[in-house]
Amino acid sequence: MKILITGGAGFIGSNFVRYTIGRYDDEVVVLDKLSYAGNLENLRAFEGHPRYRFIQGDIADAETVRVAMRGADAVVNFAAESHVDRSILDPSPFVRTDVIGAYVLLEAARHDSVARFVHVSTDEVYGEVLSDSVPEHAPLRPRSPYAASKAGGELLVSAYHVTYGLPALITRGSNTFGPYQYPEKLIPVVVTEALDRQPIPVYGDGRQVRDWLYVEDHCAGIDTVLRNGEPGQAYNIGGGNEQCNIDVVERILGALGRPDCPVRHILDRPGHDGRYSVDSSKLLALGWKPTRQFAEALEATVRWYVDNESWWRPMKQRPEYIDYFQRNYQERLAATSP
Ligand code: NAD
Ligand code: TYD
Repeated sequence: MKILITGGAGFIGSNFVRYTIGRYDDEVVVLDKLSYAGNLENLRAFEGHPRYRFIQGDIADAETVRVAMRGADAVVNFAAESHVDRSILDPSPFVRTDVIGAYVLLEAARHDSVARFVHVSTDEVYGEVLSDSVPEHAPLRPRSPYAASKAGGELLVSAYHVTYGLPALITRGSNTFGPYQYPEKLIPVVVTEALDRQPIPVYGDGRQVRDWLYVEDHCAGIDTVLRNGEPGQAYNIGGGNEQCNIDVVERILGALGRPDCPVRHILDRPGHDGRYSVDSSKLLALGWKPTRQFAEALEATVRWYVDNESWWRPMKQRPEYIDYFQRNYQERLAATSP
């Protein structure tokens, strides 16, 4: 089968390209805008591979999408603005890519009669889940501009299934970690700041809970939905691994042999979701299950960042990153008593 993978130069998308090319005879076309988070280094291993092609372009541009989707049997849409803190600083690119981009892809997919359209969404669309775990039919109550844009995109996906019969499926994965994650998310921030002997920025009391999922297990879940899921359905993909942030930070510092690294509790994220927790029974019934233990996978991830400084260092030195880092952290630091 020929699969169009949008956002394939990002963290999970590039791991999914690796997962797919390594396991199947499928042909893969990656469409990626190469935003600040897209990086061709993540796909370097596939350059010149006979079953891989890269197209640089925007999913919100109809002509680009029409050309990229030509002959595709399936589409897996990873392309998104993906970071909550950036969505708080400026929601506009989130609406453009996560809502309008999804719409442009859906229009092209229905005109091309694509056989399978998998939309990669997130557990954040449910909003904070302070008790129990939510099933797929729970109401969507997004609370950040990122989560609201993702919810908007997936509501369009559902509508295209109902109205036009598009064989579309949705995945809602939990917090993902592993190699090639852009150094703005919690785990790579902690590892790289600790390696630079900087204090670790923890929002508020650090008691917020996330359900951590190793990236390869997330890819396996998406792959299961792509091949065995029922069109029109959404599937939660949870790691079954709930941890509060401060415990994750301490584990990372332990793995780095730097347990004494200072932690700075800074002004909390506005509207910070206290907990996410999804019920993954529906996907488990399709035969998927997470395979990696959190402690071991986290240590492997920390090791990857230690061994691959040449991957993350140039990104952290870019003016774009420095500007983001200042805007996100300076104000919070200034508002926090030392
Ligand atoms: P990422 O930010 O690392 O990668 C996003 C990719 O999309 C980048 O390569 C970027 O260049 C590309 N992109 C952005 N805008 C584009 C556009 N308009 N056109 C084409 N390409 C564009 O994100 P990620 O962490 O790999 O997340 C991938 C998907 O998984 C997203 O849809 C995200 O919402 C979802 N998700 C992420 C997590 C997580 O913990 N990271 C958890 C659940 C779901
Ligand atoms: P993040 O990796 O941004 O993912 P999400 O917001 O999508 O869950 O953050 C994970 C958790 O870590 C979240 O509760 C916010 C918190 N956090 C910090 O405490 N400090 C940080 O510097 C970052 C980036 C996140």
